[in-house]
Amino acid sequence: MEIMERVRQRRSVRTFEQRAVDQGSSEKLRQLLRDCSAGPFGTPLRLELLELDPVNPRELKNLGTYGTIRGAGLYLIGAVKDIAGSQVDLGYCLEKVVLEATALGLGSCWLGGTFRRSRFARRIELADDELLPVVIPLGCPAESEKLWDRLIRSGSRSSRRKPWCELFFTEDGRTPLSEKDAGSYRNALEAVRLAPSALNRQPWRIIRDQEGRYRLYLKEERLFNRALGKIRLQHVDIGIAMSHFELAAREQALPGQWDPHAGAVPLAGLEHMALWDSSR
Ligand SMILES: Cc1cc2nc3c(=O)[nH]c(=O)nc-3n(C[C@H](O)[C@H](O)[C@H](O)COP(=O)(O)O)c2cc1C
Repeated sequence: MEIMERVRQRRSVRTFEQRAVDQGSSEKLRQLLRDCSAGPFGTPLRLELLELDPVNPRELKNLGTYGTIRGAGLYLIGAVKDIAGSQVDLGYCLEKVVLEATALGLGSCWLGGTFRRSRFARRIELADDELLPVVIPLGCPAESEKLWDRLIRSGSRSSRRKPWCELFFTEDGRTPLSEKDAGSYRNALEAVRLAPSALNRQPWRIIRDQEGRYRLYLKEERLFNRALGKIRLQHVDIGIAMSHFELAAREQALPGQWDPHAGAVPLAGLEHMALWDSSR
């Protein structure tokens, strides 16, 4: 399945069939977790795949997702150190696994708020200097979308995305960049637009600078992003966007790499996160 197809097909699934994911698929995911352990900032990540007994709903209940998730047999979990860029790296790496899971026919749902962090932390023996920003249940999606899934989806306006003119701009940071003007980067930008984000807030903005390079910014909603202490879900969102952009660009054989240490071009109200350096 092509990247754009995966990006378009993925959406949050919260109700799963009560059956185990086949061994081949879970082995593939484990392999991917082993391969994908470094994000653009190069911070150390600890990624794990937790296997639950899907016919024993008690096990899930004991872990605790406040009833948001039903029947998931697998959980992706990522622990990070509290250092700059670590939560971006986490979003970047785990979204690659999520898109691979989508291609394998599995459903997924990022969880940053509606899970009992302390119980999952105990389960993976979280160290004192580690944070556990998110967990991601994975499994076979239930045949028909349950009322619960539909309610949550409509509550967070899940299928809505901001239009291009609110997300992507030319070098002045104000003039919208049209799909036509994006040329060969149209898919990469569209893949960012369709990415999942906490409460569907879509905090990413991209500016094409004078040299035709793409700069990624965070439009942080401080109250929301800092509500969980050191955990920053909007930084996780930025990592997700970076992986979508990169995978779509690679698929079109566009050269480049994210450079989070490139000199920042400051813009009011936006935090510079990285430059897509197409010379690398
Ligand atoms: C970092 C992050 C945290 C999220 N946390 C939760 C959560 O705690 N509970 C939940 O039900 N959905 C959560 N979501 C899912 C979003 O609500 C969902 O991705 C968004 O509404 C877009 O919908 P879609 O994934 O169906 O495209 C989270 C998503 C992300 C990226």
